[in-house]
Amino acid sequence: MSEPGVRFAWKISTFFPTKDQWIRALRCIQSEERERIAKFHYQVDAISSMAGRLLMRKIIRDHFGVSNSEIKLSRTEKGKPVLDMPKNNRFSFNVSHHGDYVIAAAQVGSPIGVDIMTIDSPSAERTVKGYINLMSKQFSKDELDALNSYEGDSQKMEHFYRLWCLKESYVKAVGVGITIPLHEIEFSTPVKRLSTKRVVGDTKFFIKGSLKDQWTFEESKLDINHVACVATVGNERVSNKSLHQAKFSEVNFDDVVEELENCNDELNDEEIYWEKFSGNPRLNVNKADRFCGCFE
Ligand SMILES: CC(C)(COP(=O)(O)OP(=O)(O)OC[C@H]1O[C@@H](n2cnc3c(N)ncnc32)[C@H](O)[C@@H]1OP(=O)(O)O)[C@@H](O)C(=O)NCCC(=O)NCCS
Repeated sequence: MSEPGVRFAWKISTFFPTKDQWIRALRCIQSEERERIAKFHYQVDAISSMAGRLLMRKIIRDHFGVSNSEIKLSRTEKGKPVLDMPKNNRFSFNVSHHGDYVIAAAQVGSPIGVDIMTIDSPSAERTVKGYINLMSKQFSKDELDALNSYEGDSQKMEHFYRLWCLKESYVKAVGVGITIPLHEIEFSTPVKRLSTKRVVGDTKFFIKGSLKDQWTFEESKLDINHVACVATVGNERVSNKSLHQAKFSEVNFDDVVEELENCNDELNDEEIYWEKFSGNPRLNVNKADRFCGCFE
């Protein structure tokens, strides 16, 4: 069985980078990532993506004991960040960002996928019923029955995001992203409601109706508005002890960059990067509307 690894959560909604912090962060990442992050229109998206990159680097640095400048990250064809290093044996990591948090997890001996979702209601023009209907093709019949059995809109939305996190954590662990039919990846949740107090690990997972019990899904709530899931492969169900260790530890900017050395790629035009970033709006549109907009 794979051992419980690193689980970090960074509450970026309280992080308003100063010029020095943003430039420090830019120096810690590869040039192509700086270029990518500079293209975001909303500050929140740039900060989320930056936080994900920094978390990956911290995790890799801590695990392998190498300098940040030695860490080369690339992406698979489907976009999953991977470590471009010969030492990269059996070590997996993944990040997710949504709402107030960026989360990251890593594990030795298992692929890993993480996902976090903000439990947000659709804006006034859309009812919860209409929202779930719009997304219904992504769920199996049993999942939809379970979803509709929850009392009231807020519990329905919470379970909707929980199921979504489960599905995304799996497609991210295997690296395919949302390129496979999501209704064929099916979950049954004996524990009806998640809480911030404990990590749940007994959710059952099926592909096209066939039980896949080698997979483990660590589900939790980071706070009342955020559900998170970490998917890993192990031969046994995780024990209560390892689930306790699977809780996310909260980190902040200083914790993450403290020991990160600058990358070798030189950062020119730092003023331009800062001006572009600081001139962008911070806020985002309604998260539920933005999310389902992809599926309309
Ligand atoms: C990859 C994907 C599952 C990410 O899910 P998401 O909820 O949008 O975003 P999350 O915050 O959970 O994860 C994003 C991070 O996952 C990682 N990631 C990207 N592609 C990945 C993949 N194929 N597998 C695993 N991880 C991946 C990256 O680190 C990414 O952050 P970064 O680009 O800032 O480095 C999803 O975007 C996807 O499949 N996209 C392709 C299909 C698509 O575009 N569908 C329509 C949606 S609008």
